[in-house]
Amino acid sequence: MKPLYAWLVQPFSITMLVLIAVALFFFVFTRGALLWRQLTASDAHPQSHIYPIYSDMWLIKLVDFQPIISAILLFQYPRLVSQLVAHIRQTDLRGKQVLITSCAFGNVIPRVVKAAIQAGAREVLVTDLVRNELTNAQSKLLIYGDRVKYLQDNATALQLPDASVQVNVMFFLLHELPHPLKLQALREASRVLAPGGDLLIAEFHRPCVLLLRALSWLYFTVFETYGLALWGAYDPQLCLQKISSWQFKRQTCCFGNYQTLIATKTLTHS
Ligand SMILES: C[S@@+](CC[C@H](N)C(=O)[O-])C[C@H]1O[C@@H](n2cnc3c(N)ncnc32)[C@H](O)[C@@H]1O
Repeated sequence: MKPLYAWLVQPFSITMLVLIAVALFFFVFTRGALLWRQLTASDAHPQSHIYPIYSDMWLIKLVDFQPIISAILLFQYPRLVSQLVAHIRQTDLRGKQVLITSCAFGNVIPRVVKAAIQAGAREVLVTDLVRNELTNAQSKLLIYGDRVKYLQDNATALQLPDASVQVNVMFFLLHELPHPLKLQALREASRVLAPGGDLLIAEFHRPCVLLLRALSWLYFTVFETYGLALWGAYDPQLCLQKISSWQFKRQTCCFGNYQTLIATKTLTHS
């Protein structure tokens, strides 16, 4: 008779193989591609830091599947989106403009747009540096017609006028930007926000449990090297304090691994 562990060898091996294949897939189309670009491209351009999974339509369509996206964020995705959406619902947006600074997979954009329009927003602007991301977002928002506008734009140099939006949503953008661009994107977010307006950020955060911190460090070191700085010098709240005057409400979840930061702009941008 076979010992019990012998029965487990095959399912265990298959699971490990699948996990390794998934990790390899994501590595190749994220960090691996950036490393390859650094080795082969002659000069940098504004999209150099963007992974192929955000720019190639077949990859966008393959990956943008709610269970996959939730799993990538350790199933905290619905909670993080709900925290932002709950805030938007409580805000009087009658006649105001709402901005979504860069697209994200899953249902965050439809949920934010729905909440903003129910709160009275005149218009929601969805921006991204990548045209394909906007096309993908638009396919989820057809019912809103011309209440939603799509603008190919750079979060670090927005084409929008000063103080023109009442709410600005930035969902997991900062950890993907090289460090000087993180500050630049926050400066732009502050510039376009009206006094009294809210910048809503969802991002990674430094876990409070040592084991999770170690695993998270490993994840960032392999996949998302620009993300670790959010634990320290590029903590979004710290960065924003250098730019303007704000009131903050920060919530963390999953042992501190994720955060939502609601920053309400109290003074005119200097
Ligand atoms: C905000 S992140 C979303 C990542 C997250 N893991 C998710 O749930 O999908 C990725 C998006 O940011 C966009 N992006 C990156 N750099 C940008 C920039 N400088 N300006 C505007 N959009 C940018 C990418 O094109 C991509 O659509």
